[in-house]
Amino acid sequence: MNAIDTMLQHRSIREFADQPVAKETLDQILAAACNGSTMGGMQLFSIIVTQDKEMMRKMAPAHFNQPIATNAPLILTFCADFHRFDRYCECRNTPTDAYHNLQAYQWAVTDALIAAQNACVAAESLGLGICWLGTITYNTPQFIDILQLPKHVIPVACIPMGYPAHPDTPLTPKISNSTLIHHETYREYSEEEINTAYATMEQAPNNVNMVKENHFHNLAEDWVLRRYKKEDNEYFSDLLQKTITEQGF
Ligand SMILES: Cc1cc2nc3c(=O)[nH]c(=O)nc-3n(C[C@H](O)[C@H](O)[C@H](O)COP(=O)(O)O)c2cc1C
Repeated sequence: MNAIDTMLQHRSIREFADQPVAKETLDQILAAACNGSTMGGMQLFSIIVTQDKEMMRKMAPAHFNQPIATNAPLILTFCADFHRFDRYCECRNTPTDAYHNLQAYQWAVTDALIAAQNACVAAESLGLGICWLGTITYNTPQFIDILQLPKHVIPVACIPMGYPAHPDTPLTPKISNSTLIHHETYREYSEEEINTAYATMEQAPNNVNMVKENHFHNLAEDWVLRRYKKEDNEYFSDLLQKTITEQGF
């Protein structure tokens, strides 16, 4: 399979076979992760490899005890990292305060996310399944504490991975590509286009059941009023903003 075939076969995997990931396989995934594009050649990210079940159990509550946070053989946590570059500057008697700001944070987040997606594609090309855990951006201070991250290091992506327990897991319904793509300038959507764009997801049996069980009128309500609620988002936004400042950006 080439890279495009691998990407077109992507679907999140949340249950894993009882099969360890060989060191050579992990090394290949990490090599792919570390070789992405990077801001100014500075490689502003670090990767924490978790294989110890005790460490997974420590982090599980901060992942809201999602089963995948402990049932995967391997978790990679990608951190935006200006600490190492600061250390380099210190060692060369060069000032470091040029990077203690939001601009630098954005660069480091970009580098970390490029590394994370490279790792995902590499893992999937080797037959593993992956699933991002957004909870890393919710309870960020707890992960900083458990993973002992110094100032100027913030975890931004967390990817459990392993061999799929159910290799025939189907693809997840998505908006059609032509709806997502704009040529030259942004094109506003008509209501009809919106209806067409979300129809596949609205008609997916698990979404239909979810809307019914929660007595909502439509899938939009399920997203906005249950899955990703305003009060939660506001609480975790405040926490994230505070953490970014406390970590020195
Ligand atoms: C930033 C981000 C955070 C995510 N967080 C979670 C999560 O906490 N738990 C989970 O089961 N899936 C999580 N996912 C997986 C998405 O639910 C999944 O990618 C999406 O529904 C599309 O399905 P697919 O990956 O199978 O194509 C996350 C994905 C992304 C990109």
